[in-house]
Amino acid sequence: MPRTTMHVCSQCGFQSAQWHGQCPGCEAWNTLVEEPLGPRSVDGRPGAGRAGRRGSARGLASTGASLVARPLREVGAAPISRMATGIGELDRVLGGGLVPGSLVLLGGSPGIGKSTITNMVLGNLQRAGHRTLYVSGEESAEQVRLRAERLAPGALEVPVLAETDLEMVLDVLAAQAPHACVIDSVQTLHARELSGAPGSVGQVREVAGRIMELAKARGVAVILVGHVTKDGALAGPRVLEHLVDCVLQFEGERERPYRELRALKNRFGSTNEAGLFEMRQGGLVEVLDASARFVAEATRAPGSVVLAAMEGSRPLLVEVQALVAPSELEQPRRVVSGIDRNRLALVLAILSRHGRVSTAGSDVFVNVVGGVRVDEPGCDLAVALAVASASRGVPIEARPPAHRPAPRACFGELGLTGELRWVGHPERRLEEAVRHGCSGVIAPKDSGGDAFEAGTLLEALAEALPSQERRPARAA
Ligand code: TYD
Ligand code: MG
Repeated sequence: MPRTTMHVCSQCGFQSAQWHGQCPGCEAWNTLVEEPLGPRSVDGRPGAGRAGRRGSARGLASTGASLVARPLREVGAAPISRMATGIGELDRVLGGGLVPGSLVLLGGSPGIGKSTITNMVLGNLQRAGHRTLYVSGEESAEQVRLRAERLAPGALEVPVLAETDLEMVLDVLAAQAPHACVIDSVQTLHARELSGAPGSVGQVREVAGRIMELAKARGVAVILVGHVTKDGALAGPRVLEHLVDCVLQFEGERERPYRELRALKNRFGSTNEAGLFEMRQGGLVEVLDASARFVAEATRAPGSVVLAAMEGSRPLLVEVQALVAPSELEQPRRVVSGIDRNRLALVLAILSRHGRVSTAGSDVFVNVVGGVRVDEPGCDLAVALAVASASRGVPIEARPPAHRPAPRACFGELGLTGELRWVGHPERRLEEAVRHGCSGVIAPKDSGGDAFEAGTLLEALAEALPSQERRPARAA
């Protein structure tokens, strides 16, 4: 009897006839899921004729006889035309706007604002004279309308299709030939020929694959909205990330107003860019003066320091706060928000070994204010200074100390031997800090400008918390 199912790894897409507890492809455990094989294509090859379809979509001769590889020089490359989405931060993250025929995967946890931003994008495009289509598999057309009423005027002009059947969606897409289309979400559509539930590995891959063919053939810019699992990975197969041209991640905490949009992959631009938004009554609003806001809000209390961070190619000043309190637990708590937990563990170890600041027996909480995430090594020094200041109960010394014009800023990576290491773009970080009134920025050596350059953690601590030398250390 011919085989009708296949085991597919939901992490890496590895396929095997047999089930394995551990995926032979990526060595992840319990990730192989049984999936039905797609229908056979005309020539009898299994796999839903994937290769054949893709070939025809790109207009290649199927015989292969006329195919000749050409030097890149001779390949005609039309300049990429882009559609501006009308949202500056999003355009910047995309690399200048939506590219016709491209697939963008937009991930993020529920309630973060994926539907809101995609509604806004289509509204803006519609107003600019483009044809658009919003496919909603999650909400009814009425629900989509209710949201659109809260957004800018153009949002109500967007044609909406509430449908979960892939064939129907593809038919409408082909018939209406929009310039830009949103599928909200890719996990809710299902292909009839596969029996797996919507959102299963096979379904998601099939849905994305079929939509991609149509998008490439007709030059439709498609935004696929995707769910994110509890640990932050895009739900569904990793292959989806390989398939699309651009992967955007919407981050932030639902309860906080700030939202960050990052590019994890971008075939038409840089992956370093990040955009900052705020959720308001009228939808998502770009935050352009984030540094000014965070600096103004900085408390300057013990445990608070300003970090001159880099968000891609853009500097951003954020406040890092720490709280160190005696613990009643056998294993003291280490709670972080906005930085990596392992980074805190590392910084605490370096602080205790090379900075004479011990947090053993204390709970340590570190928070990047505003729900912003700083994923870069340059945050080490800020975390160390915030923890040291909290642990001593002494605020970071401002410069000049007399009239305390602005809080003290810092940046730098900590090495395992207690040295302060150089991090990228020191000049942009310093410029941003100075622009917002922070002088005497504590920075690694060779940072330039009028920064206070420290070679080691100890030197930085002595500069930021000089009074700690005089005071007896508090019992932690
Ligand atoms: P939504 O875009 O539906 O999130 P997702 O599609 O990622 O699940 O937006 C979720 C939240 O945003 C919701 O709790 C309501 C809030 N919101 C506003 O605060 N203002 C607005 O103008 C809109 C449209 C939504
Ligand atoms: Mg939604």
